[in-house]
Amino acid sequence: MKNISIFMGLALLGTTAPVLTQGQDGPQPLLTVKEIMNGIITPTTSTIWGAYQLQSETEWLEVQNAALAVIGAGNLLALGGAADGEQNAAQESDWITYNSQMIEAARAVITAVDARDEEALSEAGNNALYPPCESCHQQYQ
Ligand code: HEC
Repeated sequence: MKNISIFMGLALLGTTAPVLTQGQDGPQPLLTVKEIMNGIITPTTSTIWGAYQLQSETEWLEVQNAALAVIGAGNLLALGGAADGEQNAAQESDWITYNSQMIEAARAVITAVDARDEEALSEAGNNALYPPCESCHQQYQ
């Protein structure tokens, strides 16, 4: 019994320690939505939308990394931005929907890169990645 309670105490320490370093409510946003758009989304989507006649492995990898960064940005947008009210907006179902669509589109980009399929890449970029930008901006920008 004694061993079990020591074990449980350690397990609790293990789970609570990282949370405490992030504050009571978990990780807090450090960037505003505008900063996420300008700092991450704009440069990476321009790499994806500008991908054309890719030849070297490096060029394909750049597109893949850009898509990974879009997913990372989507992860931040799910938390919400650091400006006033931006965390509340991120709880709304429309925000979650548009953001998920953007993340799914970035996954489709990665699938196209894996297949080295430029037609699938441009389809994912134009038909899947662009629409959620428009929808979210119409409602929230
Ligand atoms: C989940 C919602 C959402 C999605 C998805 C989204 N955006 Fe945004 N975006 C915003 C909001 C909100 C703003 C306004 C931020 C502000 O002005 O404070 C914005 C602003 C911008 C801006 C203007 C930044 C400025 O300096 O005013 C650009 C550029 C932009 N988004 C690009 C994109 C692109 C490209 C995509 C798609 C790949 C995208 N966004 C997807 C919510 C979104």
